[in-house]
Amino acid sequence: MEEQLQAILAETESALATVEARSQLDQIKASILGGNGKLTALMKGIASVPKEERPAFGQAVNKTKKQIENLLAQTAASLDNAEDAAALGKTADVTLPPSGNYVGGLHPLTQVKRRITLIFRQIGFTVAEATEVETEWFCFDALNTPEDHPARDEQDTLYFPKESRFGNVSKKSDEAYVLRTHTSSVQIRTMLKEKPPIRVIAPGRCFRRDTVDATHSANFHQVEGLYVDKKVTIRDLKAVLDHLLRELFGKEVKTRLRPSFFPFTEPSFEVDLFSSNLGRLSNKWIEIMGCGMVDPKVFDNVGIDPEEWSGFAFGLGIERVAMMLHGIDDIRHFYQNDLRFLSQF
Ligand code: DAH
Repeated sequence: MEEQLQAILAETESALATVEARSQLDQIKASILGGNGKLTALMKGIASVPKEERPAFGQAVNKTKKQIENLLAQTAASLDNAEDAAALGKTADVTLPPSGNYVGGLHPLTQVKRRITLIFRQIGFTVAEATEVETEWFCFDALNTPEDHPARDEQDTLYFPKESRFGNVSKKSDEAYVLRTHTSSVQIRTMLKEKPPIRVIAPGRCFRRDTVDATHSANFHQVEGLYVDKKVTIRDLKAVLDHLLRELFGKEVKTRLRPSFFPFTEPSFEVDLFSSNLGRLSNKWIEIMGCGMVDPKVFDNVGIDPEEWSGFAFGLGIERVAMMLHGIDDIRHFYQNDLRFLSQF
């Protein structure tokens, strides 16, 4: 009996070695395990086996059956893989350098994002990213922005229908999903994940229900920054932002903090920039970004003790910086993929 089982197993193996299509696989399976299959026939012979030998007989047949099923499954999997590979075509080595006739370049927004990222990496900041779909809690509540704040109005924020589900972003039952209106939500995600001290920037795409005009777009990009440590002061904030703006716009720029309001910082400021070297924006104060000292309520919301820790945060628009750097007067140029525009960068 053992010999017969071995023979069936060997036969299956050699038959499977030549399989090229599902239909062949099915045939082999039927010829061994089907109603009239060889193993099935052997199994049926159990009736003529003496009673005391039946358990051992049954076990031996079942063991072989398992082995055959495994072989069939392996062959099915390699057929699937071969099918996928054929559908995908030749594999490409993405590490090879581009060919000589390579044309193209980085989008001006990507270039500015990379410049800003590099400036912060050099002073010890890391980069955080999060999803563009956010929950109301991360986008607003945790950032101390109450339910009745105008930013949460449906005129300003793009809400998903209540029944929408995003498997990779969990939300509480009574809140809605939104497209994030700012990258400040990444502050919250970072502080829930990491313990202070924290030095992080978060570049990314944001969405607002703005009417589109020369300086507004429903889809734009920001870089958020967050610094949390002991005894952080407004001087630290100013020093870091001065460093950023001098690296971007030149050593001679002047900056000032102007009191302002954001729900998640207290005090809050707008940063203004003055330069004689900014084309038609030269020689006047220009608002460039928002910032402030992290509001203790925000620390409370993420379980960081505001008695022990302090910090600053800031957010700036990548389009705005790119427009100032290059003297671009219409934000819509960035999104039209017109080569006459893009090839200038
Ligand atoms: N989130 C603000 C906006 O979208 C920008 C901002 C202002 C971010 C102040 C900050 C901040 O972190 O402290 O307009």
